[in-house]
Parts: sequence; structure tokens; C-alpha cells
Amino acid sequence: MKYLIFSDIHSNLEAFEAMLEHPAARKASRFLFLGDLVGYGPNPNEVINRFRRLNVSTQVRGNHDKVVADLESSSLFNPVAAFSAEWSKIQVSGDNQTFLKQLPKGPVVVERFITLCHGSTFDEDYYVFSNFEAAESFKFMETAIGFFGHTHFPIMYLMRNDKIQSVPLNENTHIRLDPNTRYLINPGSIGQPRDKNPMPSFVIFDPGKREIQFKRFTYDFRQTQKKIRDAGLPEILASRIESGI
Ligand SMILES: [Fe+2]
Repeated sequence: MKYLIFSDIHSNLEAFEAMLEHPAARKASRFLFLGDLVGYGPNPNEVINRFRRLNVSTQVRGNHDKVVADLESSSLFNPVAAFSAEWSKIQVSGDNQTFLKQLPKGPVVVERFITLCHGSTFDEDYYVFSNFEAAESFKFMETAIGFFGHTHFPIMYLMRNDKIQSVPLNENTHIRLDPNTRYLINPGSIGQPRDKNPMPSFVIFDPGKREIQFKRFTYDFRQTQKKIRDAGLPEILASRIESGI
């Protein structure tokens, strides 16, 4: 059994399709998604339609999904995020908005041993950027291994004997999990990476072998940039997918 864990597609169809073409995705038995299907990017409907066809085993909603579903106001977003969320609301079909509305709130426990959440295990909108914030998230996690998104930054937090360590993930990351350690892992983002690397990323988890592999791939971001500009979305949304910030 191999799980593919991915997050933060943000209406980037080209990146999402490139992920699905990746050899590791073709070998994955189950897909687990950590939220933010929409927001920022130019193809909210196409991404939701493709996501629905994929038959993802388990998913949680993200903060952008909530706003585009009209479950929450965009007033707490920064102006660029609010603009793109309001734009996405107009684009999304009624059926797809209903789909976004029923996405579950995290945390969700998969098969009693994997926790999924968007931001943290105690607040779906909380950002985990530091060891301190990871420690808070570990407190409310009932399993030994959990995955989160929201920051768009690939990283792994390890907790052993009440001590926390963080390890940024890179192309060579291939880790054998230690049974006496707890893990909180962020696979990075498909549609808008922010670790100064424009390549989208995901994680493969093989519980039988207790292995984690981190994967990165390229895609045609120029096409996405063109669509962002043609749609009249803020220019920063086009430039940042090229620089990965
Ligand atoms: Fe996000």
C-alpha cells in the first residue's frame, strides 16, 4: 500500500495534471488531500472536476475552500487572497460549490493511524512554521504520524522524548520511520510552492515499509501564468509561481 499525500493545489490545473502523470502517482494506491483545492489560480472548476474524478480516499478542506464555498467571509484574507477568492466564487459552478461545502473539517484520522489536517490538529486555519507551533499540533494529535498543509513549505517535524526537531524536505529525502518517534509532515504545495523552489511537491508514504519519500516535479508554469494574466488576477499570483515564494 502506498499513499500519495498532497496539498494546496490552488486552482493550478497544469501542476495538478503533471502530478497525476508522475510515475510515483501512477503507482499510488490511495490519495490523501490536505486542503485548498481553489483560490489564487485560474482554473477552479477544472481542478475541482479533475479532483472529483480522481476518487481521493480522504480529504480535508482548506481556508480558501471555505471562503469560495461561501462558508466564511474573505474579510480576514489579505487583498490578493480576497480578490482571487471572490473571483473564484463567481467562476465556480453551483455543483462544485456544493462539493466544496461538504469537504470535511480537519483533523480527520485515516484507518486509525494517519492524521490529516490543513493547518494544525487543533485549528484548521493555524499556521505551523516553527518547532513551538509543531509542539502545539503534536499535543492534539492522536496518532504517531500526521500530515498538514497550509504553509506551502515542505518540512518534517519529529518528536521524540518530548524533544522536537525539524527537517526541511528535499529531493533526496527518503526516510525510514522510527517506531519511537512521532511525525508531522508537510508535503509542500502542488499549485503554489513557497520554499523558493517553483517545483510542486508531494509525499509518498508506505506504511508497510515505514518509509516516507518526498517527490518534486516540473510543469508548464508559463501556461498557468498566461491564464492568470488573461483572467485579470493580480500579477503577483503569476510571478510567484515562477519564483516559488
Ligand atoms: Fe494554501
